[in-house]
Amino acid sequence: MSQSNDIYGVERWGKGLFSINDKGEIALKNPLSEHAKPVSLVEILDSLEERGIATPVLVRCTNMLQAQIQRINQSFKGAIEELGYQNSYQGVFPIKVNQQAQVIDRIVEFGQPYNYGLEAGSKPELLIALGHQLPKDALLICNGSKDAEFIRLALLSLQIGFNTVIVLESIQELDLVLKESKAMGIKPLLGIRIKLTNQVKGNWAASSGDRSAFGMTSEHVVDVIDTLREHDLLDTLILQHFHLGSQVPDINDVRHSAVEAARFFVELCKEGVPLKYLDLGGGMGVDYTGEHRSTENSVNYSVEEYCRNVIESVMNQVDRAGLAHPTIVTESGRATVANSSLLLFNVLSVSQYHAEKNLTLPEDAHELLKDMVSILEYAKSDRLQEGFNDIAYYRSEVRAAFRRGQVSLRTLGLAEQAYRHVVNHLRSAAQRMEWISDDVHEVLSSHTDIYHANFSIFQSLPDAWAIDQIVPVCPIHRLNEAPTRRGIISDITCDSDGKINHFALTDGVHHSLPLHDLRDDEPYYLGAFMVGAYQETLGDLHNLFGDTNVVTIELDENEGFHLLHEVEGDSIATVLSYVEYDPQRLFGTFKQIVESAVSNRRISPAERRTIIDAYRDSLNGYTYYEH
Ligand SMILES: Cc1ncc(COP(=O)(O)O)c(C=O)c1O
Repeated sequence: MSQSNDIYGVERWGKGLFSINDKGEIALKNPLSEHAKPVSLVEILDSLEERGIATPVLVRCTNMLQAQIQRINQSFKGAIEELGYQNSYQGVFPIKVNQQAQVIDRIVEFGQPYNYGLEAGSKPELLIALGHQLPKDALLICNGSKDAEFIRLALLSLQIGFNTVIVLESIQELDLVLKESKAMGIKPLLGIRIKLTNQVKGNWAASSGDRSAFGMTSEHVVDVIDTLREHDLLDTLILQHFHLGSQVPDINDVRHSAVEAARFFVELCKEGVPLKYLDLGGGMGVDYTGEHRSTENSVNYSVEEYCRNVIESVMNQVDRAGLAHPTIVTESGRATVANSSLLLFNVLSVSQYHAEKNLTLPEDAHELLKDMVSILEYAKSDRLQEGFNDIAYYRSEVRAAFRRGQVSLRTLGLAEQAYRHVVNHLRSAAQRMEWISDDVHEVLSSHTDIYHANFSIFQSLPDAWAIDQIVPVCPIHRLNEAPTRRGIISDITCDSDGKINHFALTDGVHHSLPLHDLRDDEPYYLGAFMVGAYQETLGDLHNLFGDTNVVTIELDENEGFHLLHEVEGDSIATVLSYVEYDPQRLFGTFKQIVESAVSNRRISPAERRTIIDAYRDSLNGYTYYEH
């Protein structure tokens, strides 16, 4: 194993999907073919480049998606057989997690053998689901707030053979369903969303427990049963649903919730509700950092363990009540698609954190400057933190003195140099230490290089910006070369939030990333991995950086890959139209401005042509930095 492999933890978070080849490049393993030679990401990029598809590019790998759908379904099947559960598992994919046509089409295709269905949380998502040929017994589950139109469409779809279950989110929704189904003369298939009392940990804790926005409390559940019975429609209530929130980090929370849900299931059955399905919603997490522990960006369980825990918890409760086992449904989104997409982008330049090796102060240097440099005499390992505290203090004193007019510009400049010089020495000392405090880490991370890269965090990794989500980010080549620098990644938006400064490395989460020096005339590529869930549609147009190029690839059974589909990234004209401009009108006005410059003899007619061509090319060009 190379040194860099150790640093970035590719094998740890990559979990058999990525490896490092002899050239030190990250390669995609085909999870569906043990013998296939892993395909280097650099080779993929080169081959895309030859076809005219440039970075930044989002790569979706169908084999990874198919393998994950197989894994989840087979894990449930395995748990069912192992534990002697007397019913089956039937998943649905929540469309909201990745609505892109290429993704949904393939999910439906790969899900055929498993009666895999879809979950829609809005009218547009319902229309997507109804535009797909689902397996005969697959479920189409309708969650979220529903108006009459949503309900009518769901009811109509029953007539053409979809198993569309309207999950009641509130008591008001029941009234609407009763009204519409009576008017249309179509008996609904209903589910009920229960608000569990158990609250889970993690970023989405608010989606569970008493204060969660969706679902019904026990009083409302009783009201629904009574109302349905009054209308002689209790037999339509066939599914019980709950959703804990996304990325549940702790398997104990999964287990507690499954137990509580099963308790509700038992009680509903005792009330005479003919429930067939127990739907445990989404929440199966992804181990983004590879730490395999219960933290926001990791999970302390595997897919297989999740499935066993769910089946066992439900079975215990239902057996105790002597009831028949329900069909288990889950709506795992993130765990299904996250792994299968990755973003590849190039570094444009580096702002190095530069410190003079030798610093000589003039004899008459200001006392504060001498104090700064004297820190190096005492700030050894046991007083390192003190050294950092002192250097920060003296620098702020010099800056304050400058503002009061007590020191000159030259002294201020010298103080900045002294600051970098001392911090550099302290950093070298810190690197030799086994443990350093979080505060020192914090200071060091604010003194690393900045690698400016060709992507927008707001467009491509919105959760990394909005909720500090960590996804693995690292160079995709030169991994058999020890990195000599440390840096953070800054995107090309002109927003100071446009940066990545949390990184999952082999030895945990760090505030900076080991990186290589840029070489002349040689691209330096980075990858952001596991970005298939939520990121594409949550992304926004900050600074008008649009959708990146997207390719769907399939790895061969032996070696190499096929390009199955390509979507060109947004052109500038397209993003301008998103924000209400008519690109042709803008172009027309620009031409008039250029023409008046010709009339005023500021430019020649030939120059007019060059200027107009430049504008036209830009309108049609990529919003990102082009080579
Ligand atoms: C009702 C429902 N089901 C399923 C999901 C998917 O969750 P996850 O992606 O964590 O599996 C969500 C998303 O939060 C949801 O709201």
